[in-house]
Amino acid sequence: MPPPINLIVACGENRVIGQGRRLPFDIPEDKRWFHDRTANTTVVLGRICYEIWPRVRLDGRVPVVVSSNPALAQPGVHVAATVPAALAIARALPGEIMVCGGQRIYEETLPVADRILLTLVHAEVPGDVFFPEWRHLPWRETWRRESADANYRYTFSILERAR
Ligand SMILES: NC(=O)c1ccc[n+]([C@@H]2O[C@H](COP(=O)([O-])OP(=O)(O)OC[C@H]3O[C@@H](n4cnc5c(N)ncnc54)[C@H](OP(=O)(O)O)[C@@H]3O)[C@@H](O)[C@H]2O)c1
Repeated sequence: MPPPINLIVACGENRVIGQGRRLPFDIPEDKRWFHDRTANTTVVLGRICYEIWPRVRLDGRVPVVVSSNPALAQPGVHVAATVPAALAIARALPGEIMVCGGQRIYEETLPVADRILLTLVHAEVPGDVFFPEWRHLPWRETWRRESADANYRYTFSILERAR
């Protein structure tokens, strides 16, 4: 059995995930969740996500960066020119696989995803980068926690692909 492909994402009800290379919301509890769940895993991410996350390699993360620039590779950082090539590298590494975006990476991995670790922010947020529509696909919610801060209500959930 190949290791499961996990997508981890926080998005608004309108599927917005980013605005001007930044997150469209600042939710400390979600940031902690994201950092905890991706620690000691293989993280598959696009070149911009890699650039804006300089501490990606802390906490035992092993990045596999999707980029046309092979010069980004260094000890402990893998680079692949396509998403399928990145997933092949990730599958050959020992850790759990966490796909961390951005938009095209999520679009290409959603069809093969086994699980989504979703933070759904209950707001329409402005932005220029989107998570693909997932709600038409068959998912089984295996865990959920509602939460809120001063600005947002949000739901953490784990969705398993219903086969
Ligand atoms: N809310 C969340 O959970 C979340 C998660 C992730 C990201 N974000 C947000 O999303 C934004 C960054 O994502 P983004 O979509 O703009 O950029 P990105 O996917 O991080 O990076 C784009 C670059 O990655 C490479 N790439 C991406 N998909 C590819 C593909 N299918 N095949 C080959 N190369 C590919 C290309 O690199 P080269 O140009 O080097 O060839 C492309 O220019 C930021 O605003 C960030 O805050 C939010």
